[in-house]
Amino acid sequence: MKTDVIELEKKYLIQTYARAPLILERGKGCWVWDVNGKKYLDFVSGLGVNALGHAHPRLTKVIRDQAGKLIHASNLYYHRYQGLLAERLAKVTGMDRAFFCNSGTEAIEGAIKLARGYAAHHGKGKFEVVALDNSFHGRTIGALSATGQEKYRKDFEPLVPGFHFVPLNDVKQLQMRVNENTCALILEPVQGEGGIFEVSREFMQTAAKLARQVNALLIMDEIQSGLGRTGEYLASKSLGAQPDIVALAKPIAGGLPLGVILAREEVASGLTAGMHGTTFGGGPLICRVALEFLDVIEKEKILKNVRKTGEYMRKKLLALKKKYPFIRDVRGRGLMLAIDLAMPSRSFVQLALDRGLIINSTHDTVLRFLPPLIIEKKHVDQFYKIMDEIFAATEWEGK
Ligand SMILES: Cc1ncc(COP(=O)(O)O)c(C=O)c1O
Repeated sequence: MKTDVIELEKKYLIQTYARAPLILERGKGCWVWDVNGKKYLDFVSGLGVNALGHAHPRLTKVIRDQAGKLIHASNLYYHRYQGLLAERLAKVTGMDRAFFCNSGTEAIEGAIKLARGYAAHHGKGKFEVVALDNSFHGRTIGALSATGQEKYRKDFEPLVPGFHFVPLNDVKQLQMRVNENTCALILEPVQGEGGIFEVSREFMQTAAKLARQVNALLIMDEIQSGLGRTGEYLASKSLGAQPDIVALAKPIAGGLPLGVILAREEVASGLTAGMHGTTFGGGPLICRVALEFLDVIEKEKILKNVRKTGEYMRKKLLALKKKYPFIRDVRGRGLMLAIDLAMPSRSFVQLALDRGLIINSTHDTVLRFLPPLIIEKKHVDQFYKIMDEIFAATEWEGK
């Protein structure tokens, strides 16, 4: 079975993914099982997507029920769930209006269009965007143009003109780069794929102030950090800045594809009828599941759990750092955490898999942890035990 599945993919798929040799069959809560029946503790949750774990009974029930009624309606017509979802998102984020699409990268595309559309409607026709080095905003050409990592960009140049980059938390460079031609600033409050680096409060506040000064829009990419991952609905909130546009995606529809652009009332006028659209975005099945997701987050006090268990996990990571000198850094907040190693991190993924734990390696030396938001202390203890075992057996020559 294992070789069949892998060989078939190797033969027929465009080879864009360096997959681990793990064939997943089913999941329940924080656990998944492979085709051979081996059980794994999932500390990646589909890259931050399966926030309520696997096969959550409330999500499963709603999916079954709505699939038998109406899966897709097209955006030519109304259905009852889009408005309800937009209202709910407005309530929890403090934003005003929503547009629904199908992925993170598509939300970023829409956010950039909204910013440029807004600038066009407000006279100046300016189009420049200031983004951050080491950022990750997605793989489509617009989102890639905002992504400050050469390795993703280099084979696709020339990208969209008008994007400029400054180093994370370098307030001076930011002040030098933002000017009257800037139509938007885009940033992740916590850089995810880039290795879990947080935007400082000072940098965030400067970005917001500069944006106001030059009449540019502040776009917050909360695709990975948003909707509970850091213990808040928006990670940018605790940094004290009011974004004009927010991009969301990953966890919102329990594993079904949904991206969201949120905008402040005035800014939303940047896109009017005919300027933007999508066939699949915001269908009845997906919107109803997202409503259920938000309801579970609230009723089951998930954000509180993220803050509490996240803090516990952070302490455990710091304990590992104390024990093993090759752990250079522990970063992140809530359940968006990482350790930085003094050696390549990739081989640790397989070592963890061998012991029944799923973790992720990013940015060469970083191990990133994005467990389901429902994890408990006992799951963190098990995670710690396995990592401790792996690190104890790690040979390291350095100091
Ligand atoms: C911060 C951020 N923005 C954008 C994206 C792109 O999202 P998607 O893979 O759904 O296109 C990601 C995906 O990892 C992300 O983490």
